Amino acid sequence: MSEKLSIHGQWSSRLIFILAATGSAVGLGNIWKFPYITGENGGGAFVAVYLLCIAAIGVPIMMAEIMLGRRGRQSPINTMTALAREENANLVWSVVGWSGVLAGFFILSYYSVIAGWALAYVLRAASGVFEGIDATGVQEVFNNLVGDPERLLAWHTLFMVMSMTVVARGVRAGLEKAVTYLMPALFLLLIVMVGYAMNTGYFVQGLEFLFEPDIKRVFERCEIVAGMEQCELSGKPVLVALGHAFFTLSLGMGAIMVYGSYMPRKTSIARSALLIAFLDTLVALVAGMAIFPIVFANGLEPGAGPGLIFQTLPIAFGAMPAGQFFGTLFFVLLVFAAWSSAISLIEPAVAWLVENRGMSRIRAAAWIGLTTWVLGLGSIFSFNLWSGDEYKLFEMTFFDLLDYLAANIMLPAGGLLIALFAGWVMSSQSSRAEFAMGGVAYQLWRVLIRFISPLAVVLVFLNAVGII
Ligand code: PHE
Repeated sequence: MSEKLSIHGQWSSRLIFILAATGSAVGLGNIWKFPYITGENGGGAFVAVYLLCIAAIGVPIMMAEIMLGRRGRQSPINTMTALAREENANLVWSVVGWSGVLAGFFILSYYSVIAGWALAYVLRAASGVFEGIDATGVQEVFNNLVGDPERLLAWHTLFMVMSMTVVARGVRAGLEKAVTYLMPALFLLLIVMVGYAMNTGYFVQGLEFLFEPDIKRVFERCEIVAGMEQCELSGKPVLVALGHAFFTLSLGMGAIMVYGSYMPRKTSIARSALLIAFLDTLVALVAGMAIFPIVFANGLEPGAGPGLIFQTLPIAFGAMPAGQFFGTLFFVLLVFAAWSSAISLIEPAVAWLVENRGMSRIRAAAWIGLTTWVLGLGSIFSFNLWSGDEYKLFEMTFFDLLDYLAANIMLPAGGLLIALFAGWVMSSQSSRAEFAMGGVAYQLWRVLIRFISPLAVVLVFLNAVGII
C-alpha cells in the first residue's frame, strides 16, 4: 500500500506518538477516579479484576484501535466508513465513530469540571491554605469549593478554554509540546507522595487494601447502614472495573484511533500498546499507594466518592516539608495530565468537522468547546443545586449518570464493536499487513480480539443486568 498520510498531520517521531497516547491515557482517570472507585468497590478484588481487564481486553483493543486508525488515516467516523468499504462490509460500522464522538462529549463535559477542581486547588496550595490542615479542615475547603456553582463554573470555563486553545492549534503545534516533560515530572511527584505515605504508619494497610483480593467482594456491593456494613450480590463492581479499564486507556471512543491515524508507519503497534498500558497502570497503582495510607492514617472513608483525592492529599502536603511547593506543583501537574487527556477526547469530533464540514480547526474547536461547556453545567449543579434526591435518577446525580453511561456502557460497547470489526470483519491479510508483526504475537492478538475480549465484555454486561 502506498504511504497515505492524514490531512491533519503526523507525529514527528515514534516517541512523540507514545508520549501523546500516554498523555491521553494518563489523566484524572488514574489519579482521581481510580482511587475513589477502588475505595467504593472494596479494594483488592476490584483492582485484580481491573488489572485482568487491562491485560486481556484493554491491550488487544488498544492494538486494534491504533491499527484501524493508522490504516484509515482519518477521523474515526470516516476511518470506519473507509475500512468497512475496503472490506466490502456494511457502512453502518461508522456508528463506532459516532458513538465515540458522543462519548467524548459526555466525558469531557464532566472531566472539565473535575479538572476545574484541580485548578482551584493550585491556587489553594500556593497560598498556603493547606499548611498544617487536618481532615476536618480539608473537608471544609472541599465542600466550600464544590458547594459553590459560580466558582465551579469559573474553573470549568477556564479549563475548557485551555483545552480548546491547544486543540485549535493542531496536532504538531499544540498537542505534542504539552506532554514531553510534564508526564515524567508528574510521575516523580507521585513517588514523592508515596515516600510520604510510607511514613504515615499505615503504608502496609494501604497496600493490603489495594493488593489483597477478597474475591467475594467483587460480586458484592456494600453499604454502611446504621453503622453496620450490609452487602448484597451485584454485578456492578465488575462492570465498573471493566468500564474503568476502557476509560483509563482512552479506549472505545476513537481517541486512540485518531492518534493512531497520525502515527508513522514504521512504529510497532504491539510494543507501543504494551508500553502505554504499562505506564498507565503504573501511574494508577502508584497513585493508589500514595492515597490509601493517608486515608487510613486520618480515619477517612475509602468510599468517600469523587472528592477522595481532594480530601486526602492536601493533608499530606500540609504536613510534609516544603509541602506548599510540592502541593502547588502536584496540582499543576494534575491539571496538565487532565489537559493532555482532554484534548484527545474531542480530537475525533474536531477531525471529523474539518474533514466533512470544511471547518477550520479553530472554528471546530470553538463549536465543540461551547457545546461541551453547556453540558458541563449539569455536572456542576450535581454537586450543589441538584445534589438532592429529587434530582436523582436511579439514585444517581446527573454527573454520576453521565459518567456511568459513558464510561461503563458506551466505552465497553464501542470497544466490543471495534474488537468485532478488527477480528471478524477485517480480513487477516489487512490486519496482518498493518501490524507487520511475527506469527505467534499476531496469532495471540487474533485469538484475544476475536474471542476473549468480545466474550468478556458480553459476559460482564450480562452479569451486570443480572442475567448471569
Ligand atoms: N484516559 C483518560 C484518563 O484516564 C480519560 C480519557 C477517556 C481520555 C477516554 C480520552 C478518552 O483520565
